[in-house]
Amino acid sequence: MTVITVFNQKGGVGKTTTSLNLAAALKRQGKQPLLIDLDPQAHLTHIAGVSVDSCNESVFSFYQKSRQLAELIQDAGNLGQIIPSHLDLAKADTLFGKGYNIVTRLATGLRAEGLQQEQNPVVIDCCPMLGVLSLNALFACDVALIPISTDFLALNGALQVEKTLKALELVLKRRLPRRYLLTRFDKRRKMTRQILAQAQEKFGDDLCTTTIAENVSVAESPAVNKDIFAHAPNSRGAQDYELLLEELISAGLIAGCSAQAAETPRVDYTQSPRLVYTAR
Ligand SMILES: Nc1ncnc2c1ncn2[C@@H]1O[C@H](COP(=O)(O)OP(=O)(O)O)[C@@H](O)[C@H]1O
Ligand SMILES: [Mg+2]
Repeated sequence: MTVITVFNQKGGVGKTTTSLNLAAALKRQGKQPLLIDLDPQAHLTHIAGVSVDSCNESVFSFYQKSRQLAELIQDAGNLGQIIPSHLDLAKADTLFGKGYNIVTRLATGLRAEGLQQEQNPVVIDCCPMLGVLSLNALFACDVALIPISTDFLALNGALQVEKTLKALELVLKRRLPRRYLLTRFDKRRKMTRQILAQAQEKFGDDLCTTTIAENVSVAESPAVNKDIFAHAPNSRGAQDYELLLEELISAGLIAGCSAQAAETPRVDYTQSPRLVYTAR
């Protein structure tokens, strides 16, 4: 079992895009991922083509203790399955507070309901706020994936996340595996190179070697309710997200996946801007 939480306290950094395309990449590897949309904006729910008429059909009702997680799972096609979100989740902090029982409720629910199976990696898309929902996602996860949209505010957000993780570790009494991921990466820009250097210095081995390039297909695909592989399988974005999964697998961060299982072509970025595929 692997629970991957995609989080950054900054909005617009690629959390939803990364959750979407990582789930799709896992599905292509033969897994049956379970997405959990913990953002009240419900963008991921919408992109997955799931419409939720009332909050009772969403993860909100799990927090209200009226329904189990398993009852809320819906089919999400190429993405696997999804537990949808609803706007009412925005009230979570006011309604549910921040006690230990509530911040560990998702972790407890996933475990108690036996939803953490090897074939079902869980990917949690967070809102850009460190409230009760994001804390739930962090307490439930095996690995935190922190997108940074290659700008200074996003990098600051990631540094805040690092502080949060260090504080959480005092409670967890273990180091939480994490990977920082540079998204919307455009190496022609001087700022991108500066952010890359700073991220390398701050995060060291926790920084993914894979970067997600600024790519128009990645930006377009949500508008047609598709992941990048369904929308533009030959795009740079599709290659990048496949490489990201390969890197996470190689690092042993996805249970039940061996490095050999990743069948995607390798891209030699040293040959950029032209992409050159190298055979394994
Ligand atoms: N690699 C990329 N290339 C181009 N646009 C991107 C890329 N990643 C994300 N975007 C766009 O950036 C915006 C914010 O991404 P999103 O995933 O919604 O961020 P978040 O969930 O962190 O708020 C969206 O319009 C999305 O389509
Ligand atoms: Mg989002």
